Amino acid sequence: MPAYAILGAQWGDEGKGKIIDYLSQRANIVARFSGGNNAGHTVINDMGDFSLHLVPCGVFSKSVTNVIGNGVVVDPDVLIEEMQALEKAGIDISQSLMVSERAHLIMPYHVMLDTLAENRRGKQAIGTTGKGIGPAYSDKTLRTGIRAADILDLENLKVRLESVLPYTNAILEKIYAVEPVTTESILEKAADWKNRLGSYIKPVGRYVNDVLDDDGTVVLEGAQGILLDLDHGTYPFVTSSSPTIGGAITGLAIQPRHITSVLGIFKAYNTRVGSGPFPTELFDDVGESIRTVAREFGTTTGRPRRIGWFDGVLARYSNRVNGYTSAVVTRLDVLDHIDSIKVCVGYKLGTDILDEPPGGVAALEKCSPIYETLEGWDIPTAGISDLSNLPTNARVYIDRLENLIGCPIDIISTGPHRDQTIMVKDILTP
Ligand code: IMP
Repeated sequence: MPAYAILGAQWGDEGKGKIIDYLSQRANIVARFSGGNNAGHTVINDMGDFSLHLVPCGVFSKSVTNVIGNGVVVDPDVLIEEMQALEKAGIDISQSLMVSERAHLIMPYHVMLDTLAENRRGKQAIGTTGKGIGPAYSDKTLRTGIRAADILDLENLKVRLESVLPYTNAILEKIYAVEPVTTESILEKAADWKNRLGSYIKPVGRYVNDVLDDDGTVVLEGAQGILLDLDHGTYPFVTSSSPTIGGAITGLAIQPRHITSVLGIFKAYNTRVGSGPFPTELFDDVGESIRTVAREFGTTTGRPRRIGWFDGVLARYSNRVNGYTSAVVTRLDVLDHIDSIKVCVGYKLGTDILDEPPGGVAALEKCSPIYETLEGWDIPTAGISDLSNLPTNARVYIDRLENLIGCPIDIISTGPHRDQTIMVKDILTP
């Protein structure tokens, strides 16, 4: 004990990277539990500006072991590239990285299938990141996946590929009319992966639980956000994993009793990348100005993010599903230039007023937000690290969000750097 779960409380891109980097200064382990290199976690600290896709955000703290859990899908080429880039920046992770032997691998054909499927969906496209995430998780569920442990035994991998590739190739050839992949080409790549990554592939479940049993501190690094969750998100416009608290448990095989804190990371407004319903989306100059001021473009794909007001209905739902012990509000400073700020406090669907989003995507598309308008603040919040210095109207805004989410806001982020953080409560001290 203890484990701190850091969860995306909206549609991802909430600023989890900064918070994980901040908390990892006092952690023994930082462990990713879901998603893959569809994620892009931005960390800005004394060592520079970094954008991490697979390697956990604890790499900047020397005493931290960084774990990629069984729930993550790993593109070995991307992992190797990211490790090399970190090495170039003077960050040696050779002794501090572990990859679960049970993690599934994103194979070259998964990346092909992701793009082929999206093109085929046409107007119904999900707007995936094109990194092979969905096809890799599909193979996992179909029991035709390849796991990290499989590349440690190339003889066995050959047998496995001979069993799974005929199915994949039938899809490639018969549905998409493209060239099949050969066992040899994959085996050649796997031999290289084994060379470069073999020593990192380990039974991490036991390791993480042993550290927790010895009273170590573990930060569970979420990727994406609850509204992209396969079960609890805006299906089918979701990712293929579980960025929720349940995913943290299955994606690392840790015991729930170890989780002492569940932190929901919220942006002070909402953003979304890709298709799907977004009730509070802004299509006006205000949205455009937030996008420009906050540089709201995808870390992984560079796509402009869709922008909207803070959605209190989705925030309350997010808290209901994940049960936050603390909320964190990031990017408050982005709203510094806005005179009047809207907050969604309910939905109207026909003649009904809803305080919880409907499960069906068609109904959610039809919901219109009920807004409350709050006055902006005259003194900028950017860089403030002391709660008492926050302008009154910003306090009023934070209090309203707290009330809508239904749990205390214990951390407020007012800029990208570690010291631009208001610790309302020191959550690391029990
Ligand atoms: P996939 O995860 O690449 O399959 O994409 C499915 C949906 O999740 C798309 O709408 C993506 O834009 C979205 N998505 C995936 N990862 C992230 C993320 O890290 N931040 C924000 N959106 C994401």
